Amino acid sequence: MAVIFRVRGTRDLLPPETDLWNSVERTARSVFVRYGFGEIRTPIFEDTQLFARGVGEETDIVSKEMYTWEDRARAESERAQSLTLRPENTAGVVRAYIEHKLNDTGMLQKLFYIGPQFRRERPQRGRYRQFWQIGAEVLGPAWSGAESSLRDAELLEMLATLLNELGVRGWRLELNSIGSATDRPRYIAALREALAPIKDRLCEDNRRRAETNPLRVLDSKAPEDQALIETLPKIADFLDEESTEHFKQVLAALDACQVPYHVNSRLVRGLDYYTRTTFEFTVPDGSGLGTQNALLGGGRYDGLSEILGGPKAPGIGFAIGEDRLILTLQAQAEKDQVLPERKLDAFIAPMGIAQNAAALALAKELRSAGISLELGDGMFRLRKSFETADKLAHRMVIVGEDEVKSGIFTIKYFAAGEQSKVPHADLASALKALAAPATS
Ligand code: HAM
Repeated sequence: MAVIFRVRGTRDLLPPETDLWNSVERTARSVFVRYGFGEIRTPIFEDTQLFARGVGEETDIVSKEMYTWEDRARAESERAQSLTLRPENTAGVVRAYIEHKLNDTGMLQKLFYIGPQFRRERPQRGRYRQFWQIGAEVLGPAWSGAESSLRDAELLEMLATLLNELGVRGWRLELNSIGSATDRPRYIAALREALAPIKDRLCEDNRRRAETNPLRVLDSKAPEDQALIETLPKIADFLDEESTEHFKQVLAALDACQVPYHVNSRLVRGLDYYTRTTFEFTVPDGSGLGTQNALLGGGRYDGLSEILGGPKAPGIGFAIGEDRLILTLQAQAEKDQVLPERKLDAFIAPMGIAQNAAALALAKELRSAGISLELGDGMFRLRKSFETADKLAHRMVIVGEDEVKSGIFTIKYFAAGEQSKVPHADLASALKALAAPATS
């Protein structure tokens, strides 16, 4: 029979790698709690219109990358509907905000999520068709302070703290203001005007972007076009007074809490809902990501709730590419030559099938006392048990006929090459202790 393989662009995450995923998520959750965030879980699929309207019809995500299907009605009471696997989570969070009337609470909503997203991109290192995001959104009615520049700076400071606590080295924060919903059309018009005479000298990709979505020309990496792109008008010159002031305040607050940043006037991001502050955190070349060096991205979306038919509810958020974060941490650990060690507290080795039942009873007792352990089988010879136990655990407990009768067990300590005899009542505490006891 032919073997069935996983689908292109998807991944299986296996132990021990999943230990790193869990530890990253634990750190993220603990930081989110300290900053007053609560968890939100939205469905993995949504009405296609949510992304078409929220993320924008013209974006790469919506025009090329979504997994969309026509969901047939199964009963007369149902209607057929176009559904889409979520390519990102911000639109879903804002939909839930509107649907559950969170605006009526009058409070700032601080929500985080951890989960898979789906985009039909060309797979490569750091770019997958199913990938994970760890993200957070802060939104609320204008009177809750959701629009304040302080929210932007606080979110960025939280991200810097999170990356530092995770041990990510060499991260770089780039940020920009892309202005309000009225600044942007003025800028895009100027951009179109500036692009018209030079368009034909750009690469094919950028020629197309110049027509369909001129902002995207700005974040093109095509080396041959860089000199021309540098001559294009800058968004900073098109911001109204309010947006200029807002951005200044964000930068001043970042300075006050010593979060280093670089203003990048070409950072526009690929989703249509952004207004004002937009940002990305990148890691240096050689951090395990290849060309996909954006670890996370985000920004303000002051008009998104209204675009989705909701009340005015300005907001700001980010999403970390968890796959990329893990690749970065793994590459760093490799450089430092720190190999993750994953060993259990003990291996229980019954000496003969007759001891199997007693060994299982002992394992149950020790596990409920908090000891992590693996249970051997009496069919194994001692030598085989010894090899397996050394791979899996720090110590081995031998369960032979004599031990069961006398209630005195032998613990073998692999690292120290020692062994000791321990009465049944003291086994759990002996297995919790890091080193072998001084006397045996
Ligand atoms: P985004 O920039 O499209 O923004 O994605 C955020 C991060 O997700 C990226 O920086 C990257 O690390 C990761 N990512 C994106 N696509 C892939 C992929 N195909 N494979 C692996 N990782 C990927 C958003 O999704 C916005 N919802 C962020 C946001 C939240 N803005 C405001 N609130």
